[in-house]
Amino acid sequence: MYDPLPVALPLPTAWLGHPLVFLRSVDSTNRLLAKWGDDGAAEGFVLVADFQQAGRGRRGRDWVADPGSSLLFSLLLRPTMQPDRLGLLPLVVGVAVARALEKHLGLRPALKWPNDLLLDGQKCAGSLIEMAPSEGGHRVVVGTGLNVNQEPATLASLPEATSLRLALGHEVPRGPLLAALLGELERAYDDFRAGWQPHESWHRRATLLGQPITVHPAQGTPWPATAVALAEDGSLLVQDEQGERHALRAADVSVRATRSDPTVAP
Ligand code: BTN
Repeated sequence: MYDPLPVALPLPTAWLGHPLVFLRSVDSTNRLLAKWGDDGAAEGFVLVADFQQAGRGRRGRDWVADPGSSLLFSLLLRPTMQPDRLGLLPLVVGVAVARALEKHLGLRPALKWPNDLLLDGQKCAGSLIEMAPSEGGHRVVVGTGLNVNQEPATLASLPEATSLRLALGHEVPRGPLLAALLGELERAYDDFRAGWQPHESWHRRATLLGQPITVHPAQGTPWPATAVALAEDGSLLVQDEQGERHALRAADVSVRATRSDPTVAP
């Protein structure tokens, strides 16, 4: 079934999604909204697409989704807070997306640093946050991709991915879910602007802490470590095999659970 997004979607928001533009197809909602932002679009502008020809993931990866299968959207923010506080934005976004899935669908997603959403250990959503300095602050584009109605066959080539449909056993209408997501994103961002610290809410949903992980740097060889804690500035504290501690920044690395070798008998 194809679930068309209603273009005139009723939103539970005061400023986020006013306006909201829906496109059937675009190269990347993040790329286009960044351009519109640089051309003067206002804070709260939301761009939604049914399909992206060149969807962007974190750290140069692609984000691929069949037409109509997902929620693919970007929002424009113009924060004027201290740049070091902006490092917490990935946590704010992750918590907001998790809350929407909890309240709207009764799911219990886990957060993998910084803002991947996992269901039963498999990824259903991620966000790419791209920022540039602009007059008096920053122009920030928060782009989220959420696997909604993909079927198992579509995800077969992505062994670490899942969809809401797979987790719930039924299709999920995308319009009301998008409205719920924007409602939670607006609330979390308003609270964040007013001084809220997202650490505890993030921590309550965190996966991987205390576990063996592999750190994938932008360049060079992946290295094994143990995820220790979330730092005050939003970076991930890890300990390498020599016992040395490192603070990882979301812009520089990605981390994955280190899988035990399934060919080795227990
Ligand atoms: C990740 O790597 O986990 C982040 C994925 C972010 C994908 C979304 S889809 C909508 C928006 N537009 C893009 O090009 N990317 C983000």
